[in-house]
Amino acid sequence: GSRSTGVRGAAGLKKLDQAVSAAHTFFVANPQHLQMREDIEKYRRMSGVKSDNFRDLEATPHWEAYESGVQHYDADQYPQAVARLEESLTEALSALEECRALCEGPWEDEDEEEEMQPGLYEAVAGTHYIQVLKCRQQCVLEIATKPGRISATEDFIPSHLDLLQFAYDQVGNQALAAECAASYLLFYPTDEPMLEKMKQYRTQLGEDTDVTARESIQHYVQRSLMEKKLIYYAVEHLGGTFNDPDLWTPDEVIPENLKEKHSLLMPICTCFSTGPLPFEGIAVTMDSRRMNGTQRVVFDRVLTESECKDLLRLTKVRPGSCRRSYGYRARRSPHTPHERFEGLTVLKAVQLAQNGDVDWRDAKLLLQASEKSRKIIESYFTPGKKLHFSFTHLVFPVFWRVSSVPATWEQEGRMDLSHPVHADNCLLDPEGQECWREPPAYVYRDYSGILYLNDDFQGGGLFFTEMDTVTVTAEVHPKCGRLVAFSSGKENPHGVWAVSRGRRCAIALWYTHSQEHAEQVKNRAGETDSSTSKLDRIPPKEWPTSRRQKPGSDRTQHPKELRARDEL
Ligand SMILES: *[C@@H]1O[C@H](CO)[C@@H](O)[C@H](O)[C@H]1NC(C)=O
Repeated sequence: GSRSTGVRGAAGLKKLDQAVSAAHTFFVANPQHLQMREDIEKYRRMSGVKSDNFRDLEATPHWEAYESGVQHYDADQYPQAVARLEESLTEALSALEECRALCEGPWEDEDEEEEMQPGLYEAVAGTHYIQVLKCRQQCVLEIATKPGRISATEDFIPSHLDLLQFAYDQVGNQALAAECAASYLLFYPTDEPMLEKMKQYRTQLGEDTDVTARESIQHYVQRSLMEKKLIYYAVEHLGGTFNDPDLWTPDEVIPENLKEKHSLLMPICTCFSTGPLPFEGIAVTMDSRRMNGTQRVVFDRVLTESECKDLLRLTKVRPGSCRRSYGYRARRSPHTPHERFEGLTVLKAVQLAQNGDVDWRDAKLLLQASEKSRKIIESYFTPGKKLHFSFTHLVFPVFWRVSSVPATWEQEGRMDLSHPVHADNCLLDPEGQECWREPPAYVYRDYSGILYLNDDFQGGGLFFTEMDTVTVTAEVHPKCGRLVAFSSGKENPHGVWAVSRGRRCAIALWYTHSQEHAEQVKNRAGETDSSTSKLDRIPPKEWPTSRRQKPGSDRTQHPKELRARDEL
């Protein structure tokens, strides 16, 4: 009746509340992000959003303790790390109990109770019980989700134990380190590195020392396992679904027919190795080591000088020079008011060529350059594993003309960035030293590339930073034919220095392993050129994969595709 409608309404409001809070929290951390500012203004104008929704949600006892614990841990301050992480674990477990208690609720539904038939009572009671169990299981996600965020931190409880065992070892308390390791092994009994640690602790403590897991964790794991078994039994025999919130659920608990789906959440380890390049004449100018980071590379001679020149012709097409609108209209950069931002997608270039607005050969060259870069990056970073285009367009910021006097165009000493520091597939949270793989980030991006076309401008260099977004670790200067490529995650926060004179022209390339999120270019160039006809196929649906990452790291998620937003 009306009650359930109310609940549904509340759920909708809760989602909006989460979205507003997430936007607000992100904005607080990234005040320079103009797009988010616009989003916030939009939310403010929406009915049903109270100013209350914009409260700063950063403070929750276990999260406050957890983040401070991780910070101490990262700073090698282990006594403080131990204190804060223990506090966080205690608070988290107690928050979990509170959450679970709320799942009980009054279950009787007036409508059904009145006309209850014999036997139905048990069935309804059973169904209700399973609902309660599912609700309780989801509580771990609730406590593992940082206030204001949408997605939960993976393996929240086990990662506490992992961090704690290391920290206890560092402060010389091997007994507690062993206890934490034993507790961690309840979640992942075959985890090799932890078994290795355990062996080491046993040796240090003496073989006959009794090492047992914490009672609270034993209880937690046993209870959770029992609930999972019941839920899976019900789902298998009575139908329904269960989104198991945990990665550690043992294989044997999951019924065979539900396994395939579940295996999507199973850890996949990817080992990084570089393969041979598919083209001759291309030079690897800098690798990860030279660039002081991981999964970064600079290739040179991907394009010749004359190819750059031809491609630059494409960037000279102006709105108004042809009747049809194309690509983007020139507009103020979303990142800085001092620059103008124009772009052209591959598809639009093809359309322009068909209309005779640009040279067909130039449009084809753009496709070929994109495909060549894709092959180079695929064979270098992920030999044997297909990379798909995620989103490609020509981008060329020029500085925003603030005065009609050309002499004042030079803006030496500008402190703004052409593109603020960000990671490509997650939302950087420099204070929390986290990168949230959730919208509005392009979470499905796996690799990013920038192919430069020119260097006759000032500024506009690319730089990488630490996760703090301020410690610059490497810089790359643009030049014709230079391709910079890097993995799109938190290991590669990057930004672009302000362009203080001229136009910086580059092709931005993003790649995904997920066919589901591959760019669906209905490319008519494929009809005339077989080398680009791959772009023509609309890829079949495929489930994205998920990678398990280190404790305290972000969660890998593949939400529905976001509206593609202009980006540099
Ligand atoms: C890497 O770091 C070193 C030392 O700080 C620096 O000299 C070098 O320029 C950096 N590499 C790049 C590509 O910026």
